[in-house]
Amino acid sequence: MKSLIVGHGGREAALGSRMAKSSSLHAFMGHANPTLLDLAEKTGGKTALGNVCDGKAVTDFALANEVDIVLVSSDDPLANGVVDSLVAGGIKVVGPTKAGAEIEWNKSFSRKVIEEISPEANPRYRLVLDPSELDDAVSEIGSDGYVVVKPLGLTGGKGVKVVGPHLADLKEAKEYALSLLHDAPRDGGVIIEERIDSPEFTIQAMTDGKTVFFPPATYDYPYRFEGDKGPGTGGMGSCSQKNGLFPFLTKDVYDQACEITYAAIDYLAKHDRHFSGCMNAGFFATAKGPKVIEFNSRFGDPEAINIMSLFDSDLTEVLLSMANRELTKNDIKLADKSSMVIYLVAPEYAYGKSVEPKEFTIDVDAALEMEVNVLFSAAERVSKNSYKTVGNSRAVSFAAIDDELESAKLRVEKAISSVFSGPLEWRKDIGVFPVR
Ligand code: GLY
Repeated sequence: MKSLIVGHGGREAALGSRMAKSSSLHAFMGHANPTLLDLAEKTGGKTALGNVCDGKAVTDFALANEVDIVLVSSDDPLANGVVDSLVAGGIKVVGPTKAGAEIEWNKSFSRKVIEEISPEANPRYRLVLDPSELDDAVSEIGSDGYVVVKPLGLTGGKGVKVVGPHLADLKEAKEYALSLLHDAPRDGGVIIEERIDSPEFTIQAMTDGKTVFFPPATYDYPYRFEGDKGPGTGGMGSCSQKNGLFPFLTKDVYDQACEITYAAIDYLAKHDRHFSGCMNAGFFATAKGPKVIEFNSRFGDPEAINIMSLFDSDLTEVLLSMANRELTKNDIKLADKSSMVIYLVAPEYAYGKSVEPKEFTIDVDAALEMEVNVLFSAAERVSKNSYKTVGNSRAVSFAAIDDELESAKLRVEKAISSVFSGPLEWRKDIGVFPVR
C-alpha cells in the first residue's frame, strides 16, 4: 500500500508517522521536514518539494507514484482546492473539497451554518462589509466594552484580535477592523463578535462525511507566553485527558459540542459540500452550554499530535474507509491515556519579524527510548541530530502519553532537557488549565 501526505507541519509529521506504520509513506512538502523524510526513507516512499497549494503538482506526483490514498490535512491546500484536483485525477483522497472546507476559510459562511444548525451556539456577531457599518456594529456588539475582531479568511491563528489581550479598547478594535477592510478586501469583510470569557476546548471529529468518531476533547495553548500572555500563535502546545474531559468541561457540555459538530458535518453533506477527514471544532465551555468559536476543516496543529499519539488503529485502513465512505465507529481505537504535546519555537516566533535560521540539536532516538516522540515542523536537517529552523513558524514538537497528564508532561519535559540543546523556547505551563 502506498500513501501520500500533503504538507510539512508537526500535524503532517504525526499523521505521516501513523500512515507509515502500514504503508509506504510518500510526502509532498513545502520544505524538507526531517520526520517525513525519515519516514519516507524507512518505508520506501518518495518525497517532493513544491507548492502544497498547487493541485496539479500534487496530483501529478500522486499519479506518477501510483499512490493508493492521499491525505490533505492543512488549511491552505484545502482552501485552494487541492482535494478537488486529486478527485478529478481519479485518486482516492481524504480531506474536504474547496466547498466543504469553506466552513473554515469563510467565517461568515461558518456563522451562517451555525445559525441554521444550532443558533444558540453562535456568539452575538455582526458581519461588516463596508467601513460605514463599523461604528454601529462595534457599539451594538461591544456594549460591555469588549469585542473580538475576526478576518473572514485564513490567518494561521494570528488574525483574530480581542479587546483585552490584543487591543486596548473599542477604538483600537475599530482601527484594526478598518485596516482589515482596507488591507484585505479579497476577504470581502470582517466579523465583529461578542467576547466570551470562558475556557476553550476543541473536538477533533474524524469522519467520512456520514459516520463521525469523537475522540477526547483537546485543549490548545494559542498564546505565545506563559499565563496566556503575548501574541496569538498557531498553538504552543496541547493536551487531552484520559477521561476525555477537562476540569472546566462537563460530559454534558462535551456531548452537546459533539452534537453541534455532527450537525455541521451533516449540513455540509446535505448541501453537497464534500467533507471527509477531521472537523476540528473549537468551543467556549460556558455556563449556558458550548458556544462555537470556529470550525476548522482539518486536524488542529498541535491537536492532531495528541490524537495521533493515542491512535491505536491502522490509519492507512481508516483513511481508505473514509475515502470509500465506509467508516464505522469501531474502525478507530484510541489508547485510554492522557496526552501532552509541547512545541519549541524561535524566540521571535509570532512577532512577524524575519528570522535568521536557528540551529539546534535533538537526539530523536534518545527521546524515543524515553517514550517521547519528536515530530518536526518548520525545521530542516543540517546533519545527524543537528537541525535549523525554516521561516518563522513552530520548529519541533515533543509528545507523550501516560495515565495522568502530569506524568505525560514530566516525561516530555525530561526529554526536552535531556535530548535538546539550542536557542528555542517553549511554554512551561502546558497542562495548566484556566481557573474561571
Ligand atoms: N491549533 C489551532 C489550529 O490548528 O487551528
